[in-house]
Amino acid sequence: MDSFKLLSIVGARPQFIKAAPISRAIKGYNESAERVIVDKILHTGQHYDYLMSKVFFDDLGLAEPDYNLEVGSGSHGKQTGRMLEGIEEVLIKEAPHMVLVYGDTNSTLAGALAATKLQIPVAHVEAGLRSFNRTMPEEVNRVMTDHISTVLFCPSESPVKNLCAEGITQGVHNVGDVMYDSFLYSLKVSGGTSTVLKDLGVEPKEYYLSTIHRAGNTDNITNLKSILSAFKLLDKPVVLPLHPRTAGILKNELSGFDRGLTKIINPLPYDDLIALAGSSRAILTDSGGLQKEAYFLKVPCITLRDDTEWVETVEAGWNILTGAEKDRIIKACKSLDEERPPYRELYGDGHAADKIIEVINEFADAL
Ligand code: UD1
Repeated sequence: MDSFKLLSIVGARPQFIKAAPISRAIKGYNESAERVIVDKILHTGQHYDYLMSKVFFDDLGLAEPDYNLEVGSGSHGKQTGRMLEGIEEVLIKEAPHMVLVYGDTNSTLAGALAATKLQIPVAHVEAGLRSFNRTMPEEVNRVMTDHISTVLFCPSESPVKNLCAEGITQGVHNVGDVMYDSFLYSLKVSGGTSTVLKDLGVEPKEYYLSTIHRAGNTDNITNLKSILSAFKLLDKPVVLPLHPRTAGILKNELSGFDRGLTKIINPLPYDDLIALAGSSRAILTDSGGLQKEAYFLKVPCITLRDDTEWVETVEAGWNILTGAEKDRIIKACKSLDEERPPYRELYGDGHAADKIIEVINEFADAL
């Protein structure tokens, strides 16, 4: 086969970060290989604000999507349903040899389901992660996607074990984490050039960085209040680049709430976020990606959830789970000066995307 058509389905901010190294690896592969991998990108439009979407395409050198379904926001059923309908049309038109989906969002599930129904093989990047908490929409998306995928790319060893426990052993590859690829690339290309600390008027190690966007911490106002109350009592101010979902709730339902010294700013482009994270005293987050970015940066993480799918970071002693409880958050911040175990590489060698392309190529050989 001289040409293999791969269609990537993305839609939410973290997926642009995960897709970028794969697109770069495909470009590199096509320069020297006999076979051409045609790299098509479908954006569902789940995220649509400039700072949630386009800025990542511009900054990470990701090609403009070939399709944008512009589904926008909505309830889970509505959003996923609209995606399914739109993705199916594109898949019928493009007839790719394989569909690549990333992570655990509604775009991931819709992409995997639409392709499977058309008998197009699905490859899942970031397969096998489990928080074992089915109240999280992301957990449902992960489990469903893994069970209908043909090729499963795991970022570390524990997801391989999770899949095995669910009876999935075929097509499973531990390739490392594409987010580590993105992280290393960003350090190489623009490391040290961000002016974000200066722009915000903060000094290295004199602030905490936080992000909050999970349904469990935003739709549940009690949790959000508890987290913000903890922030007011910390020894240093918190910088909080705010997801539009949380910003909306703060504006509409917590407008009179005293936020103390917490500095609320707009969502940040990738390089600025990495720069701000790297110089922070610690990261307080409910994001999955940022838990790992904290680890890559050797910055301690306090996870504002009761569980995590990134269990290695906790086992390694660099991530503390506090949920949304005020006292636990404060206690965790007080423990930050305690010694942590030595850093170990947990998520591969920064060449996950190359390994993914190798496996896809073997898959193409077998067609
Ligand atoms: C989604 C993913 C989550 C991921 C996150 C990354 C699901 C179920 N959740 O959560 O796993 O960690 O993306 O950011 O897929 N909004 C805007 N502008 C935007 C996007 C969203 O204003 O560009 C607001 C809307 O009010 C929307 C809300 O944010 O209703 C939630 O957006 P949605 O895409 O449903 O979920 P996220 O919380 O972003």
